Amino acid sequence: METKTIKVNVRLIRLGDLPRVCAINEEMLAENYPWAIWKGIFDTCKPYSFVAVVGHTIVGYVYCDGELVISVAVLAAYQGYGIGRQLMTNCLASCAMGKETRLQVRTTNTSAIKLYESLGFIIQGQIADYYKNPECDAHLMVHAAGQPHTATAHIKCTRRAT
Ligand SMILES: CC(C)(COP(=O)(O)OP(=O)(O)OC[C@H]1O[C@@H](n2cnc3c(N)ncnc32)[C@H](O)[C@@H]1OP(=O)(O)O)[C@@H](O)C(=O)NCCC(=O)NCCS
Repeated sequence: METKTIKVNVRLIRLGDLPRVCAINEEMLAENYPWAIWKGIFDTCKPYSFVAVVGHTIVGYVYCDGELVISVAVLAAYQGYGIGRQLMTNCLASCAMGKETRLQVRTTNTSAIKLYESLGFIIQGQIADYYKNPECDAHLMVHAAGQPHTATAHIKCTRRAT
């Protein structure tokens, strides 16, 4: 059983983080966006988007425009420590006073769906053939506005037993 504990700093995203965020996105997800899109929506996203930092290295991110979670990922070596949950919690805390928060997720991505459901998202509908490479339907998940979440900056995490 893995018992390693790491210190993680979850903070708001900065423009200079974007190349690293893009690189993690490309490594972890089939859904990638051109640089112009990441950069073009940065000002809209920066109040709601966070990175997780271990030492001086970004190991995960959530990119959100305040209503839609555009992308979230944690590097494989850092999954299972509670980082994805902390990123999403901070994101939802920043959106709490706004409208409902939505996201799309592959219907096959059971670990992400479990995370979102545990945070209060519900499946509102399904979009057929939403994803390509590989093809997959999407769940449209919605988190009601105003459900309280408390943001945390520094967390000490121990990896989930495998
Ligand atoms: C989804 C993702 C961001 C979760 O990040 P993470 O740091 O590993 O998640 P956490 O350690 O915070 O776990 C949070 C919850 O997710 C669920 N979960 C995460 N990994 C899981 C796994 N392998 N099996 C089952 N449930 C899992 C659990 O509900 C877990 O809560 P618990 O530990 O209290 O049981 C990460 O797996 C990832 O980057 N995946 C690839 C990219 C991706 O699929 N992004 C989502 C696109 S919609």
